[in-house]
Amino acid sequence: MHTGQSIVCLSALVALCLESAKAAVVTSNPQASVDLKCRHDARDIQPHHFGVWPPPQEITETGCGIRLNGDVTIVTGDTADEPTISLIKTIVTSAGGKATVSTKPTGKGTQILVGTGAENSFAADAAQELTGQAATDLDAEGYVLATGKVDGQLSVVLNGVDTRGAFYAAQTLRQLVDDRSGVPGIQARDWPLMPVRGSIEGFYGIPWSHEARLDQFVLYGQHKMNTYIYTPKDDELLRRRWRELYEGDDLDKLQELVDTANANHVDFTFALSPGNDLCYSSEDDFNATVAKFDQLRDLGVQRFYIALDDIPTDGFHCDSDDDKWPHDQEWHWLADAQACYLNRVQQEWIEKHGLDALETVPTNYAGSQPDPYKDRFGTQLDKKVRIQWTGEGVFSPNVTVESVVRAGETYVTDTLFFWDNFPVNDGDFSRLFLNPLTEPANGPVYDAKASMDEALRELAGRDEDVHEALVAFVDLNQNWPYREPEIFAPALSKDIQEFWAAREKGGGGPLRERLQLLMKLPELLSRMDMKGFATDVEPWSTAAMQWAKACQHLVAMLEALDEGDKTKADEEYGEAKAWVKKTEEKTVETLDREGNPDSYAPNVGDGVFESFLGDATAVYEGTG
Ligand SMILES: *[C@@H]1O[C@H](CO)[C@@H](O)[C@H](O)[C@H]1NC(C)=O
Ligand SMILES: *[C@@H]1O[C@H](CO)[C@@H](O)[C@H](O)[C@H]1NC(C)=O
Repeated sequence: MHTGQSIVCLSALVALCLESAKAAVVTSNPQASVDLKCRHDARDIQPHHFGVWPPPQEITETGCGIRLNGDVTIVTGDTADEPTISLIKTIVTSAGGKATVSTKPTGKGTQILVGTGAENSFAADAAQELTGQAATDLDAEGYVLATGKVDGQLSVVLNGVDTRGAFYAAQTLRQLVDDRSGVPGIQARDWPLMPVRGSIEGFYGIPWSHEARLDQFVLYGQHKMNTYIYTPKDDELLRRRWRELYEGDDLDKLQELVDTANANHVDFTFALSPGNDLCYSSEDDFNATVAKFDQLRDLGVQRFYIALDDIPTDGFHCDSDDDKWPHDQEWHWLADAQACYLNRVQQEWIEKHGLDALETVPTNYAGSQPDPYKDRFGTQLDKKVRIQWTGEGVFSPNVTVESVVRAGETYVTDTLFFWDNFPVNDGDFSRLFLNPLTEPANGPVYDAKASMDEALRELAGRDEDVHEALVAFVDLNQNWPYREPEIFAPALSKDIQEFWAAREKGGGGPLRERLQLLMKLPELLSRMDMKGFATDVEPWSTAAMQWAKACQHLVAMLEALDEGDKTKADEEYGEAKAWVKKTEEKTVETLDREGNPDSYAPNVGDGVFESFLGDATAVYEGTG
């Protein structure tokens, strides 16, 4: 921005504020040992020991468990939220029960009372009776979940402060009941610490597949993430051809995405990027913008976004803009034009249709230091428009309260929200970044390691071999270069260190075992629950397998040298080099910044395999 060229943009997949949204769990399966006993001494257990991810803010085991494997009445009042009711039905059915829906209590069987206070006074009254407090005063999307007897009837209460809160209560129930025929005696109060939680598909390269997006919306709903921002840089109808409407298959797919997002209580946010050739003052372009938005609004989208990142900053694209906003003040011409256009969309279209406030990312979207563009943009912009920002850098290792407060002042806004470019790889397509989210913008009950462990369990599924393989694979992709201290394949590094230290004494068992496991990676990962993950990482899992084979030959070469068998050593070294050669194949397919096909060799192991090769080669060549 300051040099007058377009900002280098590496924007991509973003974990927005993942505050209440960590998928994660404990190494041992805590659910296996839980039966439906009574607990009379209400006592706190660590929130993440209940197998609910993210862990609720407050959760206590108390009173008796309730079985759901008989007749269960779902008492709804006026609650009509289909995703919530069908989720509860599924929970009851998978616990072995028979669910019936009724607007009022029936006095029969076990009951699940669900809804907000306004929709279902039975649920709010029961929450009050069982816990002393209904959900009324909680922050948006909060809920109370409680079990106990209400009017003598065994009851589970799912009382949301709003509709989404009730849905989240049902998601918590799902995890509490998982693997059991009922729910333990529980009282929980939960609420998100951040209002926007989810991801932004805003990277360069091949966009996510339709199937990947659908899978993600389910996962977001299960883990209380409420936002998906659709803005892949390589959807031409968002950028280069933004004025054209969607049609045919593209439109059908968008409809399915919006429906699936809505069914999982995820706000599908449509983000247009017209800035490469937009004429800010043009009536035609304003009309084209709202015509495009109208098309998405017809599909059920409620939230809209105009992205102004990664656009040329050397001038306008039409004479009318040049006339209207002469280049007389440093960057004011651009900020004024952008604010004028955004304000018009907010005031003449968003407000007319009663939609959520417009969102935007400014052209200069990073840092909290003042500059003329940021100040002017924020000053001119309608105060309702929400501004997204990537922190102190394009990749920000952390976000501090001080920095957010300063950025709010710099951008003259109260609506700043964070665009986290972790773990985006469009700055290095050869890499995967599979390390835990350790940024400090997390709540008190968040535990990066526990969360990571659970995420891997969920992705892997129940097969222990598959889980072990996934853990070993993830270890090979731990280096996130934007954060200190840098970490390099820690478990592999440890085994290699041990190998060198113990080689004389015939050690190195752990390394040999790890290489055996890595050799089987492609096959084991293909059996993961989340099949799409295995498919997406195939170039890297294959390269890891090839490196493992190479390293096995290097180990055999070293043994042959120790035994004085030079012929065998030569042979093994040759085999090793042949496997290393295979890792250099460009199997990662992507697109360059112009959208043309491009490919890279996968980079796996954080450089640790290469070091081992170097050290082994030094021994082979007699210099080690
Ligand atoms: C833009 O749309 C409005 C409302 O539909 C219409 O009145 C106006 O003529 C359009 N302007 C142009 C330049 O097409
Ligand atoms: C945030 O990251 C920066 C850059 O790595 C570092 O200098 C700073 O100490 C970090 N601050 C906190 C609070 O972690």
